[in-house]
Amino acid sequence: MTTNATATGIDAHDRVEVTVTVNGVPRSSQVQPRRLLSDFLRHDLRLTGTHVGCEHGVCGACTVLLDGAPVRSCLTFAVSVDGHELTTIEGLAAADGGLHPVQQAFRDHHGLQCGFCTPGFVVSACGFLAEHPDPDDEQIREGMAGNLCRCTGYTGILGAVRQAADELRATGDDPRQRTRDGATASGEEVSS
Ligand code: FES
Ligand code: FES
Repeated sequence: MTTNATATGIDAHDRVEVTVTVNGVPRSSQVQPRRLLSDFLRHDLRLTGTHVGCEHGVCGACTVLLDGAPVRSCLTFAVSVDGHELTTIEGLAAADGGLHPVQQAFRDHHGLQCGFCTPGFVVSACGFLAEHPDPDDEQIREGMAGNLCRCTGYTGILGAVRQAADELRATGDDPRQRTRDGATASGEEVSS
């Protein structure tokens, strides 16, 4: 008899199959029930763009979109997202490298320095802008308040989210979707 058995009959050291759609691609792995989503993404699926800072829900570096809504992957068990859709930072730029409007805006406004916090900010901004397509500065500050940055002083980040909101309203694109191949952040086609 094990002391780790749960009401479901799954032992803490057993592995269970988790299947998720990550950035539009079905992915599966066998994980222990205690496996964190951040570790599942980084170590099992090798999607290391999702960063891990505090590991207890404070800094927002580990933010991903779960069915379109931002969640902290360091506070989420991988087994709890079985059957769901995830978007990570790797799922935002176009396959041809064209930056997502939020990524382009962070670049334009110097919204990053060391860049450690940036994936979390970009993903959070995408989720925020899907809910608030025309935010004022106070709403942006509040919407980004769950992400911490040690470097920038936040002014560039504020400007970046403001620019991205304008760009996305102009194109009508869903902020949570991958940028189309051949499109710039302003929606213009890239000439070859
Ligand atoms: S690493 Fe998840 S909130 Fe800091
Ligand atoms: S750019 Fe360094 S922590 Fe934000």
